[in-house]
Amino acid sequence: MIDKKYLLSSKQMAEFVARGFLRFDELVPTELNQKIMAEIDAGGIKGETAGTPLSQCYKGSSIRTLLDMPEIQGMIQSLVGENPLFDHDAIHVREPNQGAAQGMHADSIIDTRMDFDIQIMYFPHDIPLEMGGTLLLPGSQYRKVNEMDIARYQNFLGQIPMVCKAGSILILHHGIWHCGRQNQTNQRRYMFKVRLNPQVRQLRLWNTDDLETAKGAREIFAGQKDENDIQYILSKSEPWFEDASGRLEIVNRIKQWRFLTGDDSFDVHYWLSRLENRPSVSQSA
Ligand SMILES: [Fe+2]
Repeated sequence: MIDKKYLLSSKQMAEFVARGFLRFDELVPTELNQKIMAEIDAGGIKGETAGTPLSQCYKGSSIRTLLDMPEIQGMIQSLVGENPLFDHDAIHVREPNQGAAQGMHADSIIDTRMDFDIQIMYFPHDIPLEMGGTLLLPGSQYRKVNEMDIARYQNFLGQIPMVCKAGSILILHHGIWHCGRQNQTNQRRYMFKVRLNPQVRQLRLWNTDDLETAKGAREIFAGQKDENDIQYILSKSEPWFEDASGRLEIVNRIKQWRFLTGDDSFDVHYWLSRLENRPSVSQSA
């Protein structure tokens, strides 16, 4: 088990639950970025059969060094446990001045599990806006879609183009909507992605030292904005949410937070408790 100082906090976990991703800028050292790009160019990065324990993958590769960084182990262990399975990987290369962008999609078919996979995206060099980068739509992970069925849509309110410096990392919920944008520069663009499956129940795997203080016992209304408060984090709107402040997404987030914490009494205000009030069922038993 990694030192818990590298594990995610409850606040970071709540942000992942709310927005479907976490971002860590300029995390990977320059020397390792350069080694990995050279390995990509040499065709030296090889994944394994789906279902292989991640600990057995990438032996002798710089990708192993990347995955063994304590900060990255901390993210992995917090979200999918100590020894997840390798699902698949991809080295996405965008050629210079490429004429087309990828259609918006989720990397999954319709998937109703509360258990979730993560995808790690690694950007080994600087990505300016004109290089395209990966585009993602925060908070879209619970709008379950079938892979490319959303490809006809081009732009969304609140979308984030991954403009970043070398060595940046994104960790994504498997359901998040995203795509690769057009590379309009004269340089090749690289991105390495790996998807991981949990082997353990995703129950309080992160550093929960702040869970009691952040669990959101306080009332969030009356204008209160405590950015460390789980209720507040889970109730924040994204620009594409409907006018009623995205109540549907808040309910989806509450369900995911209950799953992760095991606390079935958790709520944000009264959104989910109201839906669970079923006297016709409880009184007929
Ligand atoms: Fe994708």
